[in-house]
Amino acid sequence: MSERMRIAINTGGGDAPGLNAVIEAVVLSAYNRNWEVYGIKQGYQGLLNTEDIMRLTPEMVRNISSIGGTILGTTNKGNPFKMAVENMAGEVEERDLSDRVVQNFHRLGLDCLIAVGGDGSLKIAYDFFKKGIPVIGVPKTIDNDLAGTVVTFGFDTAVSIATEAIDRLHSTAKSHDRVMVVEVMGRNAGWIALNSGISGGAKVILIPEIPFDMDIVCEKIMEGEVVGERYAIVVVAEGAVPLGGTLVHKGSGEAGRQEVLLGGIGAVVAKSIAAKTGKDTRSIVLGHLQRGGSPTTFDRLLALRFGSTAIRLVEKGLFGHMVALSPPNVTSVPLEVAVGSTKCVPLDSDTLLTARDIGISFGQPE
Ligand code: F6P
Repeated sequence: MSERMRIAINTGGGDAPGLNAVIEAVVLSAYNRNWEVYGIKQGYQGLLNTEDIMRLTPEMVRNISSIGGTILGTTNKGNPFKMAVENMAGEVEERDLSDRVVQNFHRLGLDCLIAVGGDGSLKIAYDFFKKGIPVIGVPKTIDNDLAGTVVTFGFDTAVSIATEAIDRLHSTAKSHDRVMVVEVMGRNAGWIALNSGISGGAKVILIPEIPFDMDIVCEKIMEGEVVGERYAIVVVAEGAVPLGGTLVHKGSGEAGRQEVLLGGIGAVVAKSIAAKTGKDTRSIVLGHLQRGGSPTTFDRLLALRFGSTAIRLVEKGLFGHMVALSPPNVTSVPLEVAVGSTKCVPLDSDTLLTARDIGISFGQPE
């Protein structure tokens, strides 16, 4: 290890509350060791076009932990191994530009890269590790779908925002005897829907892990009528799928984007509820509100702990690892573990059992 380490840090994929807290802890912990930190702009783009790389000083990051978003910028489109570039004929094609990233990394005299990201960005980080870049991963995503860590930072904030929104919908739903369908994010995992739905008092929660039956959803809603409870809140994860149905999405659309953009299932469910029950039904999509603004105290602290632990991993030379929460400690796991699978809600999880016990339906026979 060189005397004065030169550490690069980037933030990739969709933003999540807590990114700035990771950056703050990385810079301050590195500074404490007399090391230097360089911020890479827009995920991996900043290592392709290196003009934008900036030295991060303690003055630049002190107290940014409470601010949402990321001072480095981020993108979910720029995978250097599959970069969308325009060819001579004006057509967009995929090219592998990863060698250029590796060359730039060495040319800049960087010693390691701290990659803060979700499954997509950490998979890219792992691929660079295999190409010789010393990498440390930091798990970020509001979806909480990364394996190897009990929780990712950003998740707690997203759940809190969704719960507050559901709380607010109760009074308007009740006043109008309406069904309110709330679509939340989460991709192919139901963590946000499950945790906010239980906390917010939803009658029905639909998650990707449990394909739902519309008739059972409607029966549950109509059950309330008998006891004079004439309104209901239904929380739907964007990746939820009806039995025998398919994912509702908006296509891949944007050049360079690896995943389809999910969304629209809430409106589909609302339409079906209105048709089957005759009840006044409205749907709302919480969307990017779940990613905006200040992180909760939990996320802020977790992100600070993650950032500082990343620097301690650099000190130990534990490259190819990701920091991870294994309560009560922050530890680390090989990046391979984190990117190997999607962490979905286990069907025997006590949270799910709790929901069933307190009378919440998942649109499946009890
Ligand atoms: O992975 C985080 C996430 O917010 C998902 O929950 C959602 O499906 C997706 O990103 C939205 O992506 P974008 O920011 O490109 O709209």
